[in-house]
Amino acid sequence: MPTPLEIYSNIKTFLSFTDRDIANLSAIRGIVEKHGPRVTDDFYAVIARTPETAKFVEGRVEALKKTHAKWMLELVAGDYGDAYFESRWRIGKTHVRIGIDPFWPESVMSMLRSGLHLALAQEIANPVELSEKYGSLVKILDVDMMIVNLSYAEDRIDRLTEFTGMKRALLENLIHMRKD
Ligand code: HEM
Repeated sequence: MPTPLEIYSNIKTFLSFTDRDIANLSAIRGIVEKHGPRVTDDFYAVIARTPETAKFVEGRVEALKKTHAKWMLELVAGDYGDAYFESRWRIGKTHVRIGIDPFWPESVMSMLRSGLHLALAQEIANPVELSEKYGSLVKILDVDMMIVNLSYAEDRIDRLTEFTGMKRALLENLIHMRKD
C-alpha cells in the first residue's frame, strides 16, 4: 500500500497539477483574501443552524473562522509540497478525533466550491480565464478533500485493528478482496 504522502503525490500527477496551477492559484490570492470571509461566514451560518453540526462549534465560531481563514489562504499560497500534505492530514485527523462524520466536511466542501466560484466570477470577466483559474482552485480543493478522506479511512482501519486485534495488512487485504 502506498503511504498517504505517496498517494498525495500520485494524485497531483494524475490530475496534472502543474506549475500552471500554482501560478493560477497564486494569482487569485487577492480575490480569496477579499471574498473568503464571506464564504466562511456563509458556511458557518449553515453549520450553526444545523443541530448535528452546531454542537461541534458552539461557543467558538469566531475562533474557528480564523483557523478557517488561514486554511483558505494556504490554498493559494503557492506551496504544495510535503508540509502542505502534513497540514491537511492533521486537519483531517482533527475532524476524525472530535467525531465529525465525513459527510459534513464533504458537504462544506461543496459550499466552498460554489462560494469560491462565485467570488472568482465577480472579479474575472473573461470566461476562459475564469474557467482556467477555477479549474486550478477546484483541483486543490478536491485534493484537500481527498487527504481528509484518507485520514478518515486510515482511522477506520486503525480502529478495526485495535478492536479486533487483527493485523493491519490482513484488514487491508480483506478490504481489497474481490467477491467473484
Ligand atoms: C471542508 C470542510 C472543512 C475545512 C476545510 C475545515 C477546516 C478546519 C481547520 C483548518 C481546522 C483547524 C485544525 C487544526 O487546528 O489543526 C478545523 C478545526 C475544526 N473544525 Fe473544521 N473544517 C471543515 C469542516 C468542518 C465541519 C463540517 C465542522 C463541524 C461539523 C467543523 C468543525 C471543526 C471544529 C470543531 C474544529 C476544532 C477542532 C479542535 O481542535 O477541537 N469543521 N477545521
